[in-house]
Amino acid sequence: MGLIEREFKLKVERARFHHLAALIEINKAVAPKWHRNKLLRASLKEKRAFIAFMGRIPAGFLVWTKDFYSHHFIDLVLVHPQMRRKGVAQELLKAVESICPGNKLFSSTNRNNIAMQKVFQGAGFIKSGIITHLDKGNPELIFYKKVPPRIAAPKPRPRPRPKRKRAPRKNRRSKRK
Ligand SMILES: CC(C)(COP(=O)(O)OP(=O)(O)OC[C@H]1O[C@@H](n2cnc3c(N)ncnc32)[C@H](O)[C@@H]1OP(=O)(O)O)[C@@H](O)C(=O)NCCC(=O)NCCS
Repeated sequence: MGLIEREFKLKVERARFHHLAALIEINKAVAPKWHRNKLLRASLKEKRAFIAFMGRIPAGFLVWTKDFYSHHFIDLVLVHPQMRRKGVAQELLKAVESICPGNKLFSSTNRNNIAMQKVFQGAGFIKSGIITHLDKGNPELIFYKKVPPRIAAPKPRPRPRPKRKRAPRKNRRSKRK
């Protein structure tokens, strides 16, 4: 991989406490009036967040819970406005899928959030219901995906043991003496 390619390589990892400032900055850039510092701190403490980097630059994050009828639920996906349409949200969804193989994964977004609905559709989610009366006139659409089970890597075939050469009979006898 070339130097420039490496600089822009998209990677996702578990968010840790030292990422808090980056999460807050992305949150502020996406929704300046809508700070969720408490939620972000809690998600980091409980290891329920992923952060995406474009090279070394924080690009977006995802917070999940296991509170939705005991199923995994993606609570929040935020991508910095300057990092959009580069597959960041898709990669964050893949990261959360990797922690719940074979399980049901839920999420939601407002009816007017076409971008997020497209992201869900692209990632294989289907509509699962609707919740009204959360935001006035803008119902919450529930999305669902049955995450495929992790395919076990094929076990390596045992190598045939090399046959040990036996010492000629004479020598063996002579050793016993
Ligand atoms: C919605 C959001 C998370 C998408 O993030 P993103 O990193 O730009 O999305 P991706 O690049 O992974 O997009 C994957 C696909 O989704 C679709 N998509 C994404 N954004 C879209 C948009 N604005 N309009 C139409 N389709 C869109 C496209 O099909 C896209 O693939 P393509 O770029 O190859 O055509 C981002 O716009 C965002 O942070 N919005 C504000 C916060 C928000 O609404 N969060 C979701 C609810 S919590």
